Amino acid sequence: MAEFETFTHDVLVVGAGGAGLRAAIEASAAGVKVGLVSKSLLGKAHTVMAEGGVAAALANVDERDGWRVHFADTMRGGQYMNHPRMAELHAREAPDRVRELEAWGAVFDRTKDGKILQRNFGGHKYPRLAHVGDRTGLEMIRTLQDHGIHLGIDVHMENTIVALLKDGTRIAGAFAYDRERGRFKVFHAKAVVLATGGIGRAFRITSNSWEYTGDGLSLAYHAGASLKDMEFVQFHPTGMVWPPSVRGILVTEGVRGEGGVLRNKDGKRFMFADIPENYRAQTADNEEEGWRYTQGDKNARRPPELLTRDHVARCIMREVRDGRGSPHGGVFLDIAWIKERLPNGEEHIKRKLPSMYHQFKQLAGIDITKEPMEVGPTTHYMMGGVNVDPDSQMSDVPGLFAAGECAAGLHGANRLGGNSLSDLIVFGKRAGEYAAKFAKANSAPQLDNSQLETLARYALEPFDRDTAENPYQIQHELQDRMQDLVGIVRRQEEMEKALEVIEGLKQRAAQASVKGNREFNPGWHTALDLQNLLTVSEAITRAAIERKESRGAHFRDDFPGKNDGEGKVNIIIRKTGGAMSVTREPVPPMNGELKQIIEEMK
Ligand code: FUM
Repeated sequence: MAEFETFTHDVLVVGAGGAGLRAAIEASAAGVKVGLVSKSLLGKAHTVMAEGGVAAALANVDERDGWRVHFADTMRGGQYMNHPRMAELHAREAPDRVRELEAWGAVFDRTKDGKILQRNFGGHKYPRLAHVGDRTGLEMIRTLQDHGIHLGIDVHMENTIVALLKDGTRIAGAFAYDRERGRFKVFHAKAVVLATGGIGRAFRITSNSWEYTGDGLSLAYHAGASLKDMEFVQFHPTGMVWPPSVRGILVTEGVRGEGGVLRNKDGKRFMFADIPENYRAQTADNEEEGWRYTQGDKNARRPPELLTRDHVARCIMREVRDGRGSPHGGVFLDIAWIKERLPNGEEHIKRKLPSMYHQFKQLAGIDITKEPMEVGPTTHYMMGGVNVDPDSQMSDVPGLFAAGECAAGLHGANRLGGNSLSDLIVFGKRAGEYAAKFAKANSAPQLDNSQLETLARYALEPFDRDTAENPYQIQHELQDRMQDLVGIVRRQEEMEKALEVIEGLKQRAAQASVKGNREFNPGWHTALDLQNLLTVSEAITRAAIERKESRGAHFRDDFPGKNDGEGKVNIIIRKTGGAMSVTREPVPPMNGELKQIIEEMK
């Protein structure tokens, strides 16, 4: 008989980034008993990698902004694959969530008249990103943690969930191990909120740290929930490319928001050469106008560096592929040039982008106030995820909720920068609220102990095997093949090859063996993470094969255009009879008011 430590909560929140913390705060404020599980130490969340700001139509810098414009920008950026109700709720509620953060102690940068300062970001029509230099996500996490701790949430740090537990069709809790001692924990819960973030570690080059192995998506899928639009993986245009040890680390879009420009090896601002038709009217066609825009001239149009991420990433790839890249396979991002325009340019850069200044100085030996950075695309964000109800965030498993990056719907085919942070606080709050309601309305589920014994045996199997299959090796091979075969530019034959590779790696993962004991054993942790990585990789690949068009972040060389007739569908993945099934569903329609907004904003 395995030994388990047991905990009982009304609501269990899995993941302690922005969405998880905000959900836990809301559920706790509703008077239910809340447990918060984090895979890592508290505060170490991908939320901190959203550096440049949180998008909310506060209209502090440009009074023409409002929720309607934010809604229209989000839908256009997502190429109308978004769930319109989620995009509406997000745009309407983000300003209140940001003001609430301020009331809880977040110290935002200020306008001259003392309001929260907002900056430009790609795809947002007006300066909309409330920010704290280039450390906005970090400040959000700090604020939410301080607030949450005072509410008395039970925090279980450094615990990894192995599987969700069910009572019939409804959720009943989760089975976990603690990373430090390797002991099993059983969490009984009436409702579970997944807020585990993304999947970046399925790819070789990523801004995500080791925790982001698609856990929430895989847990939900294996518990019977459907996943939506898994083909939409965001490659942020600017990650570090050199030296190799730091490849993929994020270079905030805030650099471009502050006037940074992209150049190829010939010094040419290549983004001017490729402005998409639907953004032409809003985009500057000369350097002078682009500069004036970044300096707050309301009559100027945005520079092409602030086009949407999917487009900028592809333009960078094109420069590199055609031999016009930088020495280490990227392009140049230059903020130092603004010294020509601003007498105090050096100080300005250090004040606006302090983390970028230190990051490049310490990791690459580059002084960004004097030299350009070398940057290239990095896997940053999953737009797809658990298919949830837009208002409550409940999945199709009763009692199982998801919020933030691991939930699908808000961003459609491509997320606008800064909409991630507002997503976390808008839908984190909603998930917490509705999970608490669910917990109050339902009795405690029953747990069948045989489920626990089976899970304990499964989790310990890697110790019992004596094979040469090393979990790290399997993980590296998966990351390499996903990067090369299901990356920024996709083709049918390559993705079919990827499916074969994934199948082979699944067989090998089932034979992975680890040495040592259960006390802090990263090899064992990796062996258990493999199921999640392989599940999400298969889902991404199957969905990408199914979508025979190019849209947003999903670009197919063999289908370079949009297929609007057939293409306005969401791709749904389910576990059916033990295998992954792929179906299509029409994108939910917009109501009359929302349709009218889109018409007007055109
Ligand atoms: O570039 C950035 O600061 C990232 C922001 C985001 O992903 O929302």
